[in-house]
Amino acid sequence: MPRIDSETVNKILDAADIVEVVSDFVHLQRRGANYIGLCPFHNERTPSFSVSKSKGICKCFSCGKGGSAVNFIMLHEQMTYQEALRYLAKKYNIEIVEKELTPQEIEQATERESMLAANEFALQHFQHNLTETLEGQNIGLAYFRQRGINDEMVSKFKLGYSIDKRDDLLKAAVSKGYKEKYLLETGLIGKSEKGEYYDRFRGRVIYPVASISGKIVAFGGRVLRSDKPGGKYVNSPESIIYRKSYELYGLYQAKSAIVKRNKCVLVEGYMDVISMHQKGVENVVASSGTSLTEGQIRLIHRFTDNITVIYDSDAAGIKASLRGIDMILAEGMNVKVLQLPPGDDPDSYSQTHSSTEVEEYLSTHEIDFIKFKINILLEGVGNDPIQRAKVVSDIVKSIAVIPDEIARASYIKECSFTLNFDEKILSNEVAKVRNNILEQEFKKVKAEEAKREYGDDNNDKSDTQQKVEQQVAESDSTADVFIGEILKKDRSQQLKPYEETILRYVLKYGFGEFKAGVDDKGQSIVCTVADYIRTAMDQEKLSFSISKYQHIFDAVLSLRDTWESEKLIFNEQALYIRKQQWIDGEEKIRREAQTLDEIERKEKDLLAECDADYFKALKDFDFNFVERRLASSPDDEIRNTTTDLVTEKYQLSKIHTKYANIPEERDTLNELLPRSIFELENAILELDITDLNDGLKAESSKPSPDSGLIVSIMAKILEKQKLKKVYAKLIGDRVITPVSRM
Ligand code: CTP
Ligand code: MN
Repeated sequence: MPRIDSETVNKILDAADIVEVVSDFVHLQRRGANYIGLCPFHNERTPSFSVSKSKGICKCFSCGKGGSAVNFIMLHEQMTYQEALRYLAKKYNIEIVEKELTPQEIEQATERESMLAANEFALQHFQHNLTETLEGQNIGLAYFRQRGINDEMVSKFKLGYSIDKRDDLLKAAVSKGYKEKYLLETGLIGKSEKGEYYDRFRGRVIYPVASISGKIVAFGGRVLRSDKPGGKYVNSPESIIYRKSYELYGLYQAKSAIVKRNKCVLVEGYMDVISMHQKGVENVVASSGTSLTEGQIRLIHRFTDNITVIYDSDAAGIKASLRGIDMILAEGMNVKVLQLPPGDDPDSYSQTHSSTEVEEYLSTHEIDFIKFKINILLEGVGNDPIQRAKVVSDIVKSIAVIPDEIARASYIKECSFTLNFDEKILSNEVAKVRNNILEQEFKKVKAEEAKREYGDDNNDKSDTQQKVEQQVAESDSTADVFIGEILKKDRSQQLKPYEETILRYVLKYGFGEFKAGVDDKGQSIVCTVADYIRTAMDQEKLSFSISKYQHIFDAVLSLRDTWESEKLIFNEQALYIRKQQWIDGEEKIRREAQTLDEIERKEKDLLAECDADYFKALKDFDFNFVERRLASSPDDEIRNTTTDLVTEKYQLSKIHTKYANIPEERDTLNELLPRSIFELENAILELDITDLNDGLKAESSKPSPDSGLIVSIMAKILEKQKLKKVYAKLIGDRVITPVSRM
């Protein structure tokens, strides 16, 4: 799909009123300046979902989800950025001007689009066959009925039937102008050795596979008669529109239920998904017979952290899939496992039990994966110490891949108990395996870094290769150093909180007015918050060491021109509103006032009120501009970081300040901004001093230290310590004198 041009994007973002957008999904009530309602992203009884009209942002204070209008739609409707924009454009009747495509894009687009169009045609054809033809009704529909599938599911999953003829679909498609090329590429038709075309799915019932956004990317066809040659299922081949390892059957129909229940249930087949849906369990997807891939796990992870894998009880199948589950653990997800009664699969279980029974079984029988794995592995092992040690080492491997430290620790405890194995030893083993994993990762990252640094498409490949290998070799010989590096955390990690604070001010108050100080003649110097930070950082030769932050800061600065031109328009609107407010107010005064005196007095008050509102609107516009824009940026990193920094912790402290009667942050920027700069400088100084001290120690412990070097290091340390005192005083002073150098 072509991208939307930036002018239209801005139009959409400006039109999108967060309160209106959210109100389509959440019942909102006014609470002071904000609106609040029940969070749509998790189940709750008391509302913690807050919407700020002026900031254009919503946020749940319980689960943390939210963001700009675009973000909200992306989350709630599980759409991409572009899809969310289109949704909003439609809501606000904004015409989308499509960007001109390059010839290459057209070629690609038409290729993809033609294939999707062919699939869409086939889908309708198959659906039509199923319900409108005699053969379809008697064979296809009869089959689904016999398997207990109701009409609602038939239409929800767009089930179909392919007529049992060599070229039924082929003929229909070609007569409608669909090119054989695309019918072949999508695999709707095949070509025999004799060069004849044939319908791939003929005589089968059809399960269409939808992508996450609902496009039909593939089909699965199931035989009805067991005497038929070929496998039980025939599936579409891989193509540019269908990459099997990145799709999950049922995800399109399941995604909102997955978010709502904050859990995804994983089953094996088409029928399992459909039957469970029919029983009201809608957060179900299938990996379609193949073992789960990393791509599929990531796909699920977009919607939830929790996954429950359902197994039929056949033991061989279970053992084979244990590895796949380690992958889910490594992705940082919580995995539970559920075993059905012997002989049942999700389909048969759902068909023979009521909705309540299914729900009940699911909620009471899932067990934690590690426990499950221990049970499986311990089966038949008895007390043989060697066998038990094997089990331990296997479990250790599973625990080691879990990214979260606390989760690992609790599993170690658990296992030590279940396996009757010393916790310390277990914990050491996990640490060892983990170090190995980290080391591998570290090497990979290093190698990639080196590749980037020396250029990937460098002509002098052998040279690049050499350097990469050299770097890898270095890291190889320094496995111990690596551990040290992890523990020590790097410099930018230590500076992060200080840089974050500065960036947060910039994002939150962007082009708001800032009184930077007074000039020689006692006139105050006024600039924007962003400009102040930029100048101050330039002057102190500071920059963000975290490249993400620098990137975002640059994005803020590049908004300046847009802000100025949009402010002109905004000012006009604000003036108009002020005038209206005056006219309305005056009319009321004339209607109600009893004396001339009263009119005069009330008019004066009204004028003051109109002015105050007008100036406040302008001020809000300046202060909120950056935040509004960047919280809707197409750049995921910018958008997410902005939303995180401007909402989270800070909102809480704001509630706090309200009760404690502490001035709002916005009104104490005079103190806060310079201090944030000093604090960063101070932190840098501290790191420098530590480094110098390390150097000093290293040099002194040499057999024959260079005394000249020692003296010069000491001098540097002293100098830095002096500076530090200056900063300490600057930071410690309650009120910092505004810097007059600006
Ligand atoms: N599968 C496949 N090709 C096969 C067998 C299975 O693609 N020859 C995939 C299908 O996606 C199927 C899943 O593996 O849905 C699980 O296989 P199975 O349990 O055999 O099929 P069910 O979906 O349970 O189908 P049914 O109950 O209709 O036999
Ligand atoms: Mn089955």
